[in-house]
Amino acid sequence: MPEFVLDLVYLASAVLFVFGLKQLGSPVTARRGNALAASAMLLAIVGTLLDRGIVTWEIIATGLVAGTIIGLLLARTVKMTAMPQLVGVFNGFGGGASALVAAAELIRSGPGVDAGAAAGVTAAAGILVGSVSFSGSFIAFGKLQGFVPGRPLTYPLQRTLNLILFLSLLVASGYLVASAEYPIASAMLAGLALLLGILLVLPIGGADMPVVISLLNSYSGLAASAAGFVLGNPLLVLAGALVGAAGLILTRLMCKAMNRSLANVAFGAFGGGETAGALTEEGEKPVRRTSVDEAALLLAYASSVVIVPGYGLAVAQAQHEAKKLVDILRKRGVTVKFAIHPVAGRMPGHMNVLLAEADVPYDLLVDLDDINPEFARTDVVVVVGANDVVNPLAREPSSIIAGMPILDVDRSQNVIVIKRSLSPGFAGIDNPLFYLDRTMMLFSDAADALGGLAREVKEV
Ligand code: TAP
Repeated sequence: MPEFVLDLVYLASAVLFVFGLKQLGSPVTARRGNALAASAMLLAIVGTLLDRGIVTWEIIATGLVAGTIIGLLLARTVKMTAMPQLVGVFNGFGGGASALVAAAELIRSGPGVDAGAAAGVTAAAGILVGSVSFSGSFIAFGKLQGFVPGRPLTYPLQRTLNLILFLSLLVASGYLVASAEYPIASAMLAGLALLLGILLVLPIGGADMPVVISLLNSYSGLAASAAGFVLGNPLLVLAGALVGAAGLILTRLMCKAMNRSLANVAFGAFGGGETAGALTEEGEKPVRRTSVDEAALLLAYASSVVIVPGYGLAVAQAQHEAKKLVDILRKRGVTVKFAIHPVAGRMPGHMNVLLAEADVPYDLLVDLDDINPEFARTDVVVVVGANDVVNPLAREPSSIIAGMPILDVDRSQNVIVIKRSLSPGFAGIDNPLFYLDRTMMLFSDAADALGGLAREVKEV
């Protein structure tokens, strides 16, 4: 195939990647964006398949078929709550593949051949960053899946050890660039970088893994870009840069929505301390309990209802029950909206994805800034398995979640909180919202409670 045709195919693919990424920015266009980006990937693979100069088409076709089958199986079987660890594994493979490609290309080009210092430097960057994202992603996966302890694993001289490791990596990278011993130097560099990936992620708490995964996702993009430079493949450089930038932006957005710095996530050992329960020196604090029947009456005769979904809704897979309740309430003429906090749940867009799965219309989902002024004039707010994102303690400067933007649920007329107990959420702190006069606690699994409410409201 003439080279200019391949260039055109790559250009078309790059444009599709950019438009796909743009459409991922809104839940309304996200599915189309995903399909567009997947087509761009297919186009890039087909282009590469036709360029016989790169590798035999049999190898590429085998990879394409195997990858499609594995991807289909995973997409059909992995639960929505396990998405962060799945993305983590994908990142890990991406980073590992880039490291291998960078090393293989350098070794293939042989000592002294036109590789030069620039190729050595980019290959070293690809091996280093790719290996860190490979091992780091697998530790993140293990923490979320439960086979690596989720609490922050700290150890003495942790920072000193990381510093020594970092300096060793610089030396190993220098050796790779300066010497012609590519196989040995690549293996040394990869080994040290794998160790660094493990040591960097172990001290971070399990619940912070989505932020770590997003950061490692960005690293795997940078590694792909470096591999693209080594291979002289502009599309790989561009696609890697897009992944790198998108991952960094997402990491920043998540940190901002939690009002924490990236350094605090990386070194703060957050989420591992003792959790504060609902106890005072006088004993258990009083809460107002309610039942499904009582809560259903309140909802049936309300004129406006706001539902606040949180992590518990995802755990209980209660999105379909929520949709049923919403349909019944709207049929009765009640105005219903969902208040979406940017870090509700455990991954970016978690609530949007869950509610889209249950076919909740997008126009019912309202962002934090737009819904907050509405709480004061809302009749009933139903908090479903959300805790930190509605915790008024965020307004107290001394609280560990101080400054985190919250949904101002405590400013509404009536609040029904559906959760199983008074246990704290991810931040491990008590929530004064539960003890307000206008708050009623409906202690139950989210799916059971919402299912019961839907049935009862229908009967009213
Ligand atoms: P959380 O504060 O974690 O609270 C979730 C609540 O759900 C818990 O208090 C739990 O109480 C309840 N729950 C669990 N299983 C349930 C079930 N089956 N039925 C009913 N309730 C159930 O959740 P949130 O308000 O969504 O806040 C998210 C937190 O995660 C924030 O602190 C955020 O910073 C953090 N975080 C988020 C992200 C992203 S990107 N979303 C990333 C990293 C960290 P019970 O045990 O009493 O039922």
